Amino acid sequence: MKTILVTGSNGLLGQKIIYALREMRNVRCIATGIGINRLRAQDGYEYVTLDITNPEDVKQVMQLYRPDVVINTAAMTNVDACEQRRDEAEALNVTSVKQLVASCNACSAHLVHLSTDFVFDGSAGPYVETDTPNPLSHYAFTKWQGEKAVMDGATSWSILRTIIIYGVVDDNSRSNVVLWTFNSLRQGKVINAINDQFRSPTLAEDLADACIQAGLRKAHGIYHVSGRETMCILDLVNIVASFFNLDGSLVRSISSEELNQPAKRPPVTGFIISKAEQDLGFKPRTFLEGLELIKKQLLMVGAL
Ligand SMILES: NC(=O)c1ccc[n+]([C@@H]2O[C@H](COP(=O)([O-])OP(=O)(O)OC[C@H]3O[C@@H](n4cnc5c(N)ncnc54)[C@H](OP(=O)(O)O)[C@@H]3O)[C@@H](O)[C@H]2O)c1
Repeated sequence: MKTILVTGSNGLLGQKIIYALREMRNVRCIATGIGINRLRAQDGYEYVTLDITNPEDVKQVMQLYRPDVVINTAAMTNVDACEQRRDEAEALNVTSVKQLVASCNACSAHLVHLSTDFVFDGSAGPYVETDTPNPLSHYAFTKWQGEKAVMDGATSWSILRTIIIYGVVDDNSRSNVVLWTFNSLRQGKVINAINDQFRSPTLAEDLADACIQAGLRKAHGIYHVSGRETMCILDLVNIVASFFNLDGSLVRSISSEELNQPAKRPPVTGFIISKAEQDLGFKPRTFLEGLELIKKQLLMVGAL
């Protein structure tokens, strides 16, 4: 029996990892997050409140459960908020990672840590794991520093970098590009979709599987884990609109310059994923297959 502890279990990726782990035999799943457990399913795993910026609590929880694997999905993920609240971003995305690394080493746990395509400047995508990071924003900088904390300090580790994650969350506490498009267009709202940033959307369920495999196999090193198709955000939004038969005329094409967000974003990312395919058995669904799954999930909760 392996014990797997997940941080940030109320988040988009965290929720999908818990749902996948509770189906697995021979795994004891410990979900941890801030405040109360917000997953609809409350059985098949244990939940404990854990703020990873509190080192004493981290140490205590780690000593109590002595996990074989820790999957760290907790992070400050709002890119513009990170630009504006730099200390907070640093505390969560860097300092708490160092503390987690120390606690993992103390109980010989393998750490699976999540990072981002934003560590690259987007001038030369698609990227392989050995390409050199050059972060453009404070979010990206803190995520890169978090990677370094793992690489320099952890004895057993995997870093999974990923790209815009999409999926349905239980409590509607978070949005993502697919849900945002779906919800906005259903409400008849006009939306701005960027026409000069290219990404490979990643289905949260696929990424969750890769995280679990990285932990169970104790895969060592950096892995690029994303969907295979790279597309412009505007095209992505239009695909979602037409898939759900929504009014595409509400989608407004806008450049990064016009949108003028507080944090700078890389223009073209996308990953070469062959290392993850080989070592983790990663087989991402196509974007349309991902949307089919989302449609089923929305139907199940009566949102469609
Ligand atoms: N989303 C993307 O498109 C994307 C792209 C590339 C990389 N990533 C990386 O992938 C990982 C997972 O992303 P995600 O989309 O699942 O993020 P998410 O939905 O924002 O989830 C992050 C979770 O961390 C929790 N959290 C915040 N502060 C915490 C703290 N001090 N202690 C413990 N938990 C805390 C949040 O709690 P609350 O729910 O209570 O706020 C949330 O549940 C992150 O490392 C992110 O940087 C994400």
